[in-house]
Amino acid sequence: MQRTVRITALVASALLVLGVGTARAAGNPAAGKEKSQTCAACHGPLGKTSQQPNYPILAGQHESYLYHALKGYKSGTRQNAVMNGMVSQLSDQDLQDLAAWFASQEHLYTVPLDRDAAAE
Ligand code: HEC
Repeated sequence: MQRTVRITALVASALLVLGVGTARAAGNPAAGKEKSQTCAACHGPLGKTSQQPNYPILAGQHESYLYHALKGYKSGTRQNAVMNGMVSQLSDQDLQDLAAWFASQEHLYTVPLDRDAAAE
């Protein structure tokens, strides 16, 4: 009995570790660059030049943040007429690669660390 419990706990923790592993985005930035040509029309080739105020800047955002945003558009948990359409034909690997590409760009708004302190 005790042994079964111990084995169950072992399997559960192994699954947890695997689950966390697969949930992490692991894209290939070079592949993402190739796939990002359509995105550039609105977000800019490096994700820095927003053509409209409502087109977010993607450069330098965290890879997992970008990946989860894209996943949300694909699954429909995040609704936006433009972006839902953009990702509908893309695979999960495409989303990971695109996230890696834009995450690897230098962020435009690198706020100095003392900015908040100075404002107090
Ligand atoms: C026709 C213009 C257009 C194109 C092309 C486009 N986007 Fe977007 N994108 C938008 C708009 C508008 C939003 C803001 C949507 C919202 O409010 O949720 C957005 C939002 C996003 C976000 C969420 C950013 C955040 O900070 O929450 C990501 C990530 C993103 N786009 C990636 C992409 C990728 C990758 C592609 C190419 C496959 C792409 N976009 C193509 C217009 C576009």
